[in-house]
This record gives sequence, structure tokens and C-alpha cells, in this order.
Amino acid sequence: MMDLIQDLNWRYATKSYTNKIVSDEKINFILEAINLTASSCGLQPYRIYSISNKELQEKLGNNSFNEQISTSSHLLVFAAYNKVTTEHVKDMINLMASERNISNDSLKGLFDMMDSYFKSKSDEENRNWADKQAYIALGTALIAAANQRLDSTPMEGFDSKNFDNILELDKQDLHTSVILSVGYRDEEKDYLSKTKKVRISIDEMVKKVD
Ligand SMILES: Cc1cc2nc3c(=O)[nH]c(=O)nc-3n(C[C@H](O)[C@H](O)[C@H](O)COP(=O)(O)O)c2cc1C
Repeated sequence: MMDLIQDLNWRYATKSYTNKIVSDEKINFILEAINLTASSCGLQPYRIYSISNKELQEKLGNNSFNEQISTSSHLLVFAAYNKVTTEHVKDMINLMASERNISNDSLKGLFDMMDSYFKSKSDEENRNWADKQAYIALGTALIAAANQRLDSTPMEGFDSKNFDNILELDKQDLHTSVILSVGYRDEEKDYLSKTKKVRISIDEMVKKVD
């Protein structure tokens, strides 16, 4: 396995992709990594759309300066919950009970705590919370892609209304939070492929408190 720091140095926010298609195996690796990442309360308040249909990618990319939406092999859409419902909490508790082979009753305390927590917040607050969880998933996907030597671009530059309409996310009580294109860099065309990574020093970023 490659060293993680090497993976992270290798990756960059790719601007130009070749038309080489990413294998299902590699895309599934990223999706599995996303599924294994952490989320607050373990609720995983998002769904991932993995899109490799070029026509659909073209439509989604309308109104965006990011050509990567249509020119990448795959586009991952991180679609977060619009709100958190008692059903969501129930589903999670039921899954935990069955996966761990324990009774639902033994999880009643946890259920009540989570349910009352989300109910104490507005839908908008819970939606913002869900967006944050989706960004953690995005971070994991970035690392997983680099580990597979797949190029990728995290993007906020897209028309979220257009995405939500085309993917009919409202029907699922979801909205587009953030997106990630995945593919293979076109080293010739991409001016960024050979430029040095720009980062502040670790000393500037970190305050160590002993
Ligand atoms: C949440 C998020 C949104 C971003 N949106 C865009 C975008 O819309 N278009 C783009 O080309 N790059 C986008 N980027 C890429 C950043 O510009 C890039 O990560 C940053 O400049 C650091 O460079 P590096 O990732 O190549 O190391 C985004 C990055 C993040 C994390």
C-alpha cells in the first residue's frame, strides 16, 4: 500500500480529464470508503449518486464553469437530507439492533436521546448538520480516490437547483450538497498537473498545546 502522505501529495483538484473510463471496481472502492467514514450519531444523512452517463453529466454541467462535471469519467453527487425525521432515527436504531444482534429495547435510551436532539433543532439546522456530514464523506472520497491513483475534483461551483431538479432530489427529501468528479488527468492539457502544491506551513496551521 502506498504511503498516505504520498497519495495526498499526488492528488490535486484536476481541471482536465482524458476520456479514459474508471473501472467499476475502483469506483466501488471509493463508495465503500465513503460508507465506512464517520458521521455524527452514525446517521449517514446523505445518499451518493454515482453518475457515468455522459448525457446526464452534460445536463448537470449546464450553467457551471466546471467542465469536469461533464468531462470526467464519473461524477459523485453528495446529496444530503433536507431534514431529519423520527423515521431516520428509527431506521438507524433498527439497523444497529439487527447488525449487532441486540434488542431494540436495549437501544431505547439512545433512540430517545437522538430523536429529541434532532427535534430540538429546526429543519434548517438539521439540514446544515447533514451538509457537514456530507463534507466528511467528500474528504474520505478524496483520499480513497488518491489511494487508487484516480484523479478527482471536489466542487462547489455548480447549479444546485439544476442538480436537484434533474436528479429529482426533492422527492427523496434530499438536496445536492457537494460534488466530486473522478477520472484520469490529462497531463498535457491540465496546467495544474505539474504545478507545486500550495499550502501554509504546518507551524502556521497548528497550535500545539502541551
Ligand atoms: C469544498 C470544495 C469546493 C471546491 N470547489 C471547486 C470548484 O468548484 N472548482 C474547482 O476547480 N475546484 C474546486 N475546489 C478545489 C480547490 O480549489 C483545491 O482543492 C484547492 O485549491 C487546493 O488545491 P489541491 O486540492 O489541488 O491541492 C474545491 C475544493 C473544495 C474542498
